[in-house]
Amino acid sequence: MKKQNNDKVKHNVKVLFSKIWLVGVILAIIAAALIYFVKDLNLSNKPETEIVQIPDDNDFDRIENGIHINTGFIDAPGMTETIQNCTNCHSSKLVIQNRMSGERWKSTIKWMQETQNLWDLGENEAIIINYLVTNYPPKKVSRRAVLSDVEWYKLEE
Ligand code: HEC
Repeated sequence: MKKQNNDKVKHNVKVLFSKIWLVGVILAIIAAALIYFVKDLNLSNKPETEIVQIPDDNDFDRIENGIHINTGFIDAPGMTETIQNCTNCHSSKLVIQNRMSGERWKSTIKWMQETQNLWDLGENEAIIINYLVTNYPPKKVSRRAVLSDVEWYKLEE
């Protein structure tokens, strides 16, 4: 009778322990889930940091075959000033695709200053206009050359 009792106690203890173990596992899972979500909530006041790739200067300044790769500008005196002042609002392509005389470059700049909030370029204005008119002058007028040495023939009546 006593032994039987003993066995019963043993059995109950066993069951109890197995339940405690199960509860432990469940608690551990809940704790892990909590930690996981709380971590995502970012409760601290630390600003989120993100690694941003900044192109290094070497890359930005790369010149190949006389062309500044990043902007497409021709590498010539005044290019740096032009990049610094003329690529802030629009693409360099807008500059490159326009070919003008010095006068018209000047008036385009004046127009942007009056209507588009372009700043006073100071002494860079002359440098930039010189760069533009040297490298982006008006295309030669594409009119055919005057005919010469042509053998004319008479139309027959
Ligand atoms: C403050 C802003 C700003 C800056 C800096 C700027 N531009 Fe502009 N530019 C504009 C705007 C806005 C336009 C009109 C764009 C459009 O029509 O889509 C424009 C248009 C142009 C055009 C086209 C004009 C046309 O008749 O179609 C050229 C060429 C040009 N810019 C050259 C330059 C040059 C050269 C510089 C440097 C001296 C420069 N821009 C700097 C704002 C600016």
